[in-house]
Amino acid sequence: MAKTKSIYVCSACGAKYSRWQGICYECGEAGTISETLVDTAPNAGAKAAARALSGFAGATGSGIYNLSNVDLTKKTRLSSGFSEFDRVLGGGIVCGAVVLIGGNPGAGKSTLLLQTVAKLSENHKVLYVTGEESLQQVALRASRLHLNTANVRIAAETSIDNICAMATAEKPEVLIVDSIQVMHVTGIESAPGSVSQVRESAGALTQFAKRSGVSVFMVGHVTKDGTLAGPKILEHCVDCSVILEAGNDVRYRTLRCQKNRFGAVNEIGVFSMTDQGLKEVKNPSAIFLNRQETVAPGSLAMVTWEGTRPLLVELQALVDISLFSNPRRLSLGTDQNRLSMLLSVLHRHADFSLGDQDVFVNVVGGVKVEDTSSDVPLCLALMSSFRNSPIDKGTIAFGEVGLTGEIRPVAYGQERIGEAIKQGFRRLIVPYDNAPRSKSNNGVQIIPVRRVTDLINVF
Ligand code: TYD
Ligand code: MG
Repeated sequence: MAKTKSIYVCSACGAKYSRWQGICYECGEAGTISETLVDTAPNAGAKAAARALSGFAGATGSGIYNLSNVDLTKKTRLSSGFSEFDRVLGGGIVCGAVVLIGGNPGAGKSTLLLQTVAKLSENHKVLYVTGEESLQQVALRASRLHLNTANVRIAAETSIDNICAMATAEKPEVLIVDSIQVMHVTGIESAPGSVSQVRESAGALTQFAKRSGVSVFMVGHVTKDGTLAGPKILEHCVDCSVILEAGNDVRYRTLRCQKNRFGAVNEIGVFSMTDQGLKEVKNPSAIFLNRQETVAPGSLAMVTWEGTRPLLVELQALVDISLFSNPRRLSLGTDQNRLSMLLSVLHRHADFSLGDQDVFVNVVGGVKVEDTSSDVPLCLALMSSFRNSPIDKGTIAFGEVGLTGEIRPVAYGQERIGEAIKQGFRRLIVPYDNAPRSKSNNGVQIIPVRRVTDLINVF
């Protein structure tokens, strides 16, 4: 009989207390502390991994090495079969890496992993462990998606000890665990999904991955506000944390990287959810742009930067006379505070006052633009809506606006210009310092701007 005692654990940060209290001292969250029963034997999870690892042929034991002598000749990255997924992971699945995939229920986490496993199984050994669905449900989905599952090894299991033992015997290159919230470790009495179970399960799988060189994918649930459920330590212990989210347009899913020890963060991959499962969208700019023939006032295309590549999106602004003494300023997809700042800059430096107007800003397609390059297009869209004069079709802009009314360059200017031209834009409004020095234009008009007052001449 395992010895247990009762402690109080914060579900947000995992801090432990001997008595209940309303507010966690560590993270400041209120109402997150609840009673948990724990095994008094230390590190049940570590023991589970150690038990399973004894006997794994490929395990690298502890010891001191020269960093320069560590063997790098082994192939270190596998391709998931989806180039979008590979890019989000930083160029493929790193051997021995632990990847956490979060997302709302129904986002398509299980579908994405099942499709990935089916493609990987053509050349590599894979093991798919399902804790949420039965074997029949997974098989049914695979057959409906016409996946080649001849080499896909699968198990329905929720015990981490058994999973590690099975993986040790099976020696797969990639292990999928769907999901970490239903797993449990022997020796911990609390229910699956509780802080201690999730922490120990994730810890055991991470140790297993590092020692054996098996790449592990864990599915994680998200809470109401879209952050990963469970203790923060879950995100600390994994190498890579990605979120699969459905935007405003339910047909599309974006895979967003939040943490990556082996590549760039803020990388996104776009997929469309079809009746044949997830399909990659190779040219996401095309779906976020409005291809209508007529141009309306207040709408403009812009080039933002996501991870390692440019993304073209459409920005819309609506300026309308306010019926209230306090005009509304609302921004969806861009920073609300930046909008207030830009309105002040326009007023002070371009003599353009919207003090008695409601202002609404929206980025089409539910994209979130976190890059300051949206400043110039935002100013132009506001001016266009206010003056009710459309901006010419084929115009695109990017650039940052400073508090003194100057237009500042942004990173990756050349790449942004290149992508805009590739997508067929012929009139580019860019910061002066980002404008190319060469005069060759091939029918493309590049308009360099230095101050917000220059933007008025664009119309
Ligand atoms: P699922 O992978 O089960 O989501 P998660 O594991 O993230 O909870 O995806 C289920 C959703 O995907 C469901 O809403 C239906 C949709 N879907 C399709 O539209 N087409 C398909 O071919 C599949 C398999 C799922
Ligand atoms: Mg699922």
